[in-house]
Amino acid sequence: MTTATGSNAGTSVKRVAVVMGLRTPFVKSGTGFAELSAVDLGAAVVSELVQRSEIDPKHIDQLVFGQVVPAPLDTLIGREVGLRSGLPKRIEAHTVSRACATSIQAMVAAHDSIALGNSAVAIAGGAESLSDAPLFASRPLAKALIEASRGKTLKDKVGAFRKLKLGDLAPLPPAIQEPTTGLSMGESAEKMARENGIRREEQDRVAFESHRRACGALEAGRLKDEVMAVYVPPRYQKVVAQDNLVRKDANLEALAGLRPVFDRRYGTVTAGNSSPLTDGAAAVLLMSEERARELGYKPLGFIRSYAFAALDPGEQLLMGPAYATPIALDRAKLSLKDLDLVDMHEAFAAQILSNLQAFGSREWARRKLGRDEAIGEIDPSRFNVNGGSIALGHPFAATGARMVTSTLRELERRQGQFALVTLCAAGGLGASMVLERT
Ligand SMILES: CC(C)(COP(=O)(O)OP(=O)(O)OC[C@H]1O[C@@H](n2cnc3c(N)ncnc32)[C@H](O)[C@@H]1OP(=O)(O)O)[C@@H](O)C(=O)NCCC(=O)NCCS
Repeated sequence: MTTATGSNAGTSVKRVAVVMGLRTPFVKSGTGFAELSAVDLGAAVVSELVQRSEIDPKHIDQLVFGQVVPAPLDTLIGREVGLRSGLPKRIEAHTVSRACATSIQAMVAAHDSIALGNSAVAIAGGAESLSDAPLFASRPLAKALIEASRGKTLKDKVGAFRKLKLGDLAPLPPAIQEPTTGLSMGESAEKMARENGIRREEQDRVAFESHRRACGALEAGRLKDEVMAVYVPPRYQKVVAQDNLVRKDANLEALAGLRPVFDRRYGTVTAGNSSPLTDGAAAVLLMSEERARELGYKPLGFIRSYAFAALDPGEQLLMGPAYATPIALDRAKLSLKDLDLVDMHEAFAAQILSNLQAFGSREWARRKLGRDEAIGEIDPSRFNVNGGSIALGHPFAATGARMVTSTLRELERRQGQFALVTLCAAGGLGASMVLERT
């Protein structure tokens, strides 16, 4: 039997439940998962999610998965993760990408399919291995290699390389850079800090708070049921069981001592107040509310609304949350003060502070959104309560799924009702999702 997800005209929209979520530990790239690919990590998390949820794979209709820095040899990560995780081969799959909001995009694709009745049970998520980032040949070297492969004689083949300079032989890493502006993410964060008057000390305080809260969550065991241990292939003797980026000893003095990375002379963005390069994967199990009930699941919560938005990357690249959130809140028929929790992806402390500034500003709302009222001030006791991407790490495509799982579990702990998860992403994109518990 094969699964098919297609259009299903005339059906009413179904409410979509998040039944369970799980992630691998998030580790600094080049450490515990250095030998693994994004597909390995994605397959590990999907297979464990299926086991822990005890879902009979025969009920799963669809897998949607994403990766931001593509692996040229595993181009269709959605399908590869399905095949490698031991799921039945009949489960259809596809791949999505929306930069740092990729696993939100995966959830939205699955959500829409379920809401329209085209599928009833789906797994959505994302994986990233920056340890396994592809290296590219320079343009002249690539041209020479193609020319050589077409050469008929040895002389033709050797001749193809004659014009190369020594520098052409160096491999090129993928750029974390905006093609339209030429600025890296870190340089864009510097620009936001400068234009919004955000001081270094404020950024370091955000970073410190991220570590303090993440540390508190880990020590209290609040994250333990959402983080699996990974037995590292091929021998499965080494086990990676914990996040390794959270610093117990984080302190403001050490943060203040770090040198700026992206503008070495006048900058304020450092390795300490940026999200680090990270490997990891995360996934969620989604179902229509009625299928969850039929199968006897008590959902963690439901997706109430979502919105994506975009701004000119040449402005302030990482302001996506301030653009997408008011739309998601309107769609949810809620306002910021109705939310028990807000989780905002911490790409950089400067981006967090810039967005918080915009959220609280009526003038910004008028100028940028054409709205009369500010989005609202966020109560710090409800904001990024278990730390964020600065402390926990940011495997690009996995972060959204981590945030959704963690937020829904915290909402339950607090017996709250509504929460917001929001992310900035490359290209000036923003993603916001409103979650509800009952
Ligand atoms: C900022 C960045 C360049 C730093 O890379 P890196 O130099 O490899 O980072 P490291 O982890 O080695 O940290 C550099 C130093 O700062 C120190 N450091 C980092 N965080 C620290 C903290 N909270 N407190 C104290 N020291 C800290 C490290 O220990 C290290 O010290 P060392 O050189 O003595 O070993 C990299 O993390 C990056 O590019 N981040 C941004 C990623 C990005 O663009 N994401 C997209 C967002 S949407």
